[in-house]
Amino acid sequence: MSGGEEGAVKPPEVIVALDFPAADAALAMASRLPEGTWVKVGLELFTSAGPAVVERLVGRGHPVFLDLKVHDIPNTAAGAVRSAARLGARLLTLHASGGRAMLEAAAGAAGTSKGAGSGGRLRLLAVTVLTSLDDAALAEVMGRGAGTEEAVGRLAALASGSGIDGAVASVAECRAVKAVCGADFLVATPGIRLAGGDAHDQKRVAAPGEARAAGADYLVVGRAITAADDPGAALRRVMEEAGATG
Ligand code: C5P
Repeated sequence: MSGGEEGAVKPPEVIVALDFPAADAALAMASRLPEGTWVKVGLELFTSAGPAVVERLVGRGHPVFLDLKVHDIPNTAAGAVRSAARLGARLLTLHASGGRAMLEAAAGAAGTSKGAGSGGRLRLLAVTVLTSLDDAALAEVMGRGAGTEEAVGRLAALASGSGIDGAVASVAECRAVKAVCGADFLVATPGIRLAGGDAHDQKRVAAPGEARAAGADYLVVGRAITAADDPGAALRRVMEEAGATG
């Protein structure tokens, strides 16, 4: 980590991951967070509760990050992007490994999307290499060749060259992704833990201040907030440590 630049970087947004199996629990958690807090709806909640839960969250004023990791032929991927925009989602993930044609079709669909909520068009974040894959697991999928580090840089460059707005990356990868794709390329970092917090199943965790110093635009935080006795207080702590209060 290089020091000294912390004061110069823009404070990130904190996004609370609503990793719950049903709408009731997700909406109950959202109601314990301040108005306007970013929330993430992932595959578990979306598969169980569907677009209705997204509409309800958007209706309550939460900007929604829809983490559906789209990976399909260009026409279908672009259709998914349009549907997400109509729902009012503000961020949507897709796999960079879907290739240039898919990424460009998705970016084109997002660029012309109007969105249903307030606050601007849908932005797309690329998933490069899942953080659950190590070099051996990646080689098993792709054949022998590049390791994960090289693949993350290559896929991030492909995404940014195809018009995608940003990527999901660990705090450890954040600087490298920005170096390859430019400072304006958005980076969302999961694996955030408060000092003394449980790492759970995450292999590489970082504190909110480290994520900010690395230039992260969004901090994706699940259990450090949602499993806390007082989620609102935990969110405030994350925001304070990330310099995102005010
Ligand atoms: O509870 P925790 O803070 O570990 O949750 C992190 C969130 O970020 C989860 O919703 C998880 O699916 C997501 N995520 C991740 N690692 C990635 C991509 C997404 O942890 N590489």
